[in-house]
Amino acid sequence: SPDISVTNTKAHLDQLQSIATSNGGNRYTGRPGYKASADYVKAKLDAAGYTTTLQSFSTSAGTSYNVIAEWPHGDANHVVMTGSHLDSVSSGPGINDNGSGSAGVVETALAYAASGQTPKNRVRFGFWGAEELGLLGSKYYVNNLPAAERDKVELYLNFDMIASPNPGYFVYDDNPAGDGARDDLVAYFTSKSVQTEFIDVQGRSDHAAFRSLGIPTAGTFSGAEGTKTSAQATKWGGTAGSAFDPCYHRSCDNINNLDLTSLDRQIDAIGHMVWTYAQKDYTGGPPP
Ligand code: PHE
Ligand code: CA
Ligand code: ZN
Ligand code: ZN
Ligand code: ZN
Repeated sequence: SPDISVTNTKAHLDQLQSIATSNGGNRYTGRPGYKASADYVKAKLDAAGYTTTLQSFSTSAGTSYNVIAEWPHGDANHVVMTGSHLDSVSSGPGINDNGSGSAGVVETALAYAASGQTPKNRVRFGFWGAEELGLLGSKYYVNNLPAAERDKVELYLNFDMIASPNPGYFVYDDNPAGDGARDDLVAYFTSKSVQTEFIDVQGRSDHAAFRSLGIPTAGTFSGAEGTKTSAQATKWGGTAGSAFDPCYHRSCDNINNLDLTSLDRQIDAIGHMVWTYAQKDYTGGPPP
């Protein structure tokens, strides 16, 4: 499996913090800090050779954008997608929620391009706008994908909050169609001696839009407003009786609100999944 660079990922987070700082302290839908975040991600992926699209849509808070990036190699009939929401709430810069997932997915995409592999499948990345307004960007994307294109999406992997300062290691367990990918995530963490717990995240992040179309989904999460139990502190370290992210949706979700060990473990899991599923043989399934 690849070693995704936590140094490079942290550098993307530094950039997202500086974008927020110079744009009123947030990266919220309809505010300049969001568009600047989308432009930052798109420019990095363009420079690496991705085919990118800035997809705009309107919301009650103003225009928002999804950034879609596809590696232009591999069988276009079988698409493996990985995504994260790129917007913050209005109260702060959103560095753990969800700069962390976005920086990790960008860095994985850059590492994938640099690896020089020719994938079996199409590898596509999505950075969603307006998640904080009700998963609007991911819903807009799937609702505007022609049916024939939807059928080609074999898997969607979601990363929303992966560097919580008092981290847990949660693996989504809310879509039976994604159980294979879910189990691969658990096996990956187990191989690194990191214990995981399943979590039913229901409709709380962007994979829900894909799941509603019947697409297999999976993902990971390091915890938000929930309280770490003493049993969880025994297996993961950190502070029992405190929130996984005490700065969840607050102004203090800034560049200091990160656990870099969690970030490094999670981005390497993203890398493992992208590398693995890029090569997955989907040709034995029903024809598209
Ligand atoms: N989607 C939530 C938010 O952005 C966070 C979350 C992610 C909650 C995954 C549960 C599971 O605020
Ligand atoms: Ca790493
Ligand atoms: Zn297929
Ligand atoms: Zn949030
Ligand atoms: Zn989030």
